[in-house]
Amino acid sequence: MEKKEQLYEGKAKKVYATEDPSLVIVSYKDDATALDGLKKGSIAGKGSINNRMSNYLMELLEKEGVPTHFVEELSDRETLVRRVTIVPLEVIIRNISAGSFAKRYGVEEGIVFAEPTIEFSYKNDSLHDPLINEYHALALGLATRQEIDRIKELAFRVNDILRAYFKGLGVKLVDFKLEFGRTGTGEIVLADEISPDTCRFWDARTNEKLDKDRFRRDMGGVEDAYREMMRRVFGDRA
Ligand code: TMP
Ligand code: ASP
Repeated sequence: MEKKEQLYEGKAKKVYATEDPSLVIVSYKDDATALDGLKKGSIAGKGSINNRMSNYLMELLEKEGVPTHFVEELSDRETLVRRVTIVPLEVIIRNISAGSFAKRYGVEEGIVFAEPTIEFSYKNDSLHDPLINEYHALALGLATRQEIDRIKELAFRVNDILRAYFKGLGVKLVDFKLEFGRTGTGEIVLADEISPDTCRFWDARTNEKLDKDRFRRDMGGVEDAYREMMRRVFGDRA
C-alpha cells in the first residue's frame, strides 16, 4: 500500500492517505512533547519502538477479542491502520497511584488500588485536556451513551489482558491512556498507540521507571528505558 497525501500531523505521529479510503498509514516520529506540547524534545529510536510495540500489543488484544485499528506493519516506523474518527476522549485506566492522580488527591505514588479506576479527559490541548465526566461528554456530543459504555467495557478488558501480560515480563502496568475511534460503519475500535509514551511501566522488582516519565521529569536514561521495554517485549528480536 502506497503513501499518498499527508492528512494530519500530530505531536508524535503523521497520518497519510492511501488509495483505499478506509485505510491510512501512520508514521511514528522520534519527537516527544510533554505539558501539552510546551516541553519539546526527541527520543532517539522512539518512533520505531512505539510503532513495533504498539502493533505487537494490538495484535495480542485482537487475539483476545478486542477490536483495534491495526491492519499491517509496513516498516519500522509505518503501519497500515483502519481509518477512524477519533472520539476526542483520553481514556485513562489506573492500577497504582501515580502522576496527576497522586497530585490531584494528595497521595503518594505507588498505592496499589483494590480495583482499577477509569477517568476521561477531553482531548483538547488548548484547554489542557481537562478531566471530564460521562455526562459532560454526552452534553458536548463527544460520544453517545452506547459508545461510552462500549469504551469503558473495552478499556477494562484491555487492562486485564495487558496487566497480566506485563506481569509475565516483570513489569507493573501502573496506568495508561487509550484512545478509541469510530470506523465508517460506526464500530468502536481501539486506536492511537500503546507504548512507553502512553503507559507507565515500573520494573516489578525495583520500581524503576521504564517509560516517558523519565522525559517528563528530566530524569535521564530515557532512551535506555524505551530500549529496556523493547527488550522485555521482543527479547532477541528487539
Ligand atoms: P497522568 O497521571 O499524567 O494523568 O497520566 C496517566 C497516564 O496517561 C500515564 O500512563 C501517561 C498517559 N498520558 C498520555 O498518554 N498522554 C498525556 O497527554 C498524558 C497527560 C498522560
Ligand atoms: N500529550 C502530552 C503533551 O502534550 C504529552 C504527555 O505528557 O504524554 O505534550
